[in-house]
Order: sequence, then C-alpha cells, then structure tokens
Amino acid sequence: MARRQCGCFVELTMEMGEPFAAAPGQFVHVRCEVPGLILRRPYSLYDVRKGSASLLIREVGAGSAWLCAVEEGCELDMLGPLGRGFSMSAGGRHALIAGGTGIAAIRFLATRLMELDGDTVVFWGVEGEKECGGLHGALDGEFDLRLATMDGSAGYAGNVIELFRASGTEGFTGIYACGPRGMLAGLAECIGSEGLARLQVCMEERMACGVGACRGCAVPVSSPPGGYLTACKDGPVFTGRELDWRRING
Ligand SMILES: Cc1cc2nc3c(=O)[nH]c(=O)nc-3n(C[C@H](O)[C@H](O)[C@H](O)COP(=O)(O)OP(=O)(O)OC[C@H]3O[C@@H](n4cnc5c(N)ncnc54)[C@H](O)[C@@H]3O)c2cc1C
Ligand code: FES
Repeated sequence: MARRQCGCFVELTMEMGEPFAAAPGQFVHVRCEVPGLILRRPYSLYDVRKGSASLLIREVGAGSAWLCAVEEGCELDMLGPLGRGFSMSAGGRHALIAGGTGIAAIRFLATRLMELDGDTVVFWGVEGEKECGGLHGALDGEFDLRLATMDGSAGYAGNVIELFRASGTEGFTGIYACGPRGMLAGLAECIGSEGLARLQVCMEERMACGVGACRGCAVPVSSPPGGYLTACKDGPVFTGRELDWRRING
C-alpha cells in the first residue's frame, strides 16, 4: 500500500492480490485497527486499475485518523466492492457534482464516463483551496474541473450548487452527485422534477454492518410511500426519482 498526502486528503493505493473489478459509486468497508473501534468504515473507490485500487481519505475521527497515518507497505483488511454503483451509458454530456470527500466517487465515475466517450464536467465544492492541497490542479488535468470554495480562495466563491446553477444546468444527458445530504437536496431543488429523471446520487450515510443486515443506513424512498431502502446494499447510488426528497430535506 502506498500513500500520498494532498491538503486534507490522503490517497491510499493498494496492490490487489487477486483480480478486482468495481463500478464507480461502489465502496469498500475497511477495518481500522483502533482499540475499541469495532465497526468497519465505508470508503468509495477513488480509482481502480489493473491490479490496484485507490481510496481518498479525509480525517474526521479515530478510524480515518488511523487510515491517514497507516504506514506504506501495510496490508489493509477490506470488504468489497459493496453496494450498487452508478449506471453509465456511452457518449452524452454529463454533469458530475461533488461536495468534499464526494470527489472520490465522482473522480472514478468521470474517468469511466470519459472512457465511454462521454463529455464530462465536474463541479467540486470545498471550504477553501487549502483543503485541496493542489489536488484540484491534478484533477483539472484529468477532466474539466470547476472548483467552488466557500471562503472564495479559489474558483467560484460560494457553494457548488450555486456554481452549477450559474454555469447552466441544461443540456446534460446525465447528472450525478455525491456529497452531504444538504448539498444533494439543494441539487434536487435546483434541477426540479424534470432533472430528477436524469439524476443519480451516491449517499454517504453513516453505516454499521455495510451489508444490509442492521438497517442503520436507512434512506427515505418515494415508493412505497414512507418506505426506506438501505444505503449500503440497495445503494449507495439511487436515482433521483427513487428518493423521497421531502424527507431527505427534513
Ligand atoms: C458509501 C460511503 C462512501 C464514503 N466515501 C468516503 C471517501 O471516499 N472519503 C472519505 O474521507 N470519507 C468517505 N465516507 C465517509 C467515511 O466513511 C467517514 O468519514 C468515516 O466512516 C468516519 O470514521 P471515523 O472513525 O474517522 O469518524 P467517526 O468518529 O465515526 O466520526 C467523526 C465525525 O464524522 C461524522 N461522520 C462519520 N461518518 C459520516 C458520514 N458517513 N457522513 C457524514 N458525517 C460522518 C460523525 O458524525 C462525527 O461527527 C464515505 C461514507 C460512505 C457511507
Ligand atoms: S449499514 Fe447495516 S444495513 Fe446498511
């Protein structure tokens, strides 16, 4: 395993001992060797190549702190790939919207859509340029990246949904997003009911078992009315029409 620090993010790249195939939006459930920390932690796949897989980790608590500090050459205990990823089609023009660590799933998706001859624009919202540590520059070399910073230190000054709205939300065959619930709800409102038909979102809910057994990651859905699906097994990717945005926003 190799590690690389970029601002607040640490990229971990693992050599996979056996063939590993995954769709963008799928995740791995990682064991963090911290005393008393029983539950694995879910992480989106950031990149998957022949023989290797990468994660992009941001430190927010004990598990992620352990992962960010893990020594090169260590082996990670991971389950996966888990969950349902994004569905993709060839060609088209795609808007990909990420908030914070949501860039992990969105970067992997952008790479695959471009391999399918898709025209992609990635909108990424962060607090400030310092958070990225140059990562936005590296990603801008891979695809058309538009950065939004809340403190106005780089790119568009404001949130990523305002940036998407200001850039024009029309003309995209697919709209894809990954980020906090508030950002996703803001996007759903911005694109309206017609846009929801073209939307897929990856929900980064808090998880426990990661395999659909505990129902700790329930996400409100529109059918059946008042119902729930699990983010870990039925998701984490859902279509815009599957979700009950009124309850997600509540
Ligand atoms: C499908 C999926 C994909 C994810 N992909 C990534 C990724 O690519 N990169 C990345 O850095 N993180 C990702 N996350 C979030 C990551 O799993 C959490 O940050 C991690 O579990 C935190 O563990 P911890 O022990 O460090 O923090 P904890 O001690 O468990 O929590 C620290 C703080 O973070 C908050 N927190 C924990 N988990 C979440 C969450 N899921 N959403 C919002 N707040 C949370 C807690 O409420 C608490 O305030 C993903 C989550 C899911 C469900
Ligand atoms: S985390 Fe247990 S059902 Fe999703």
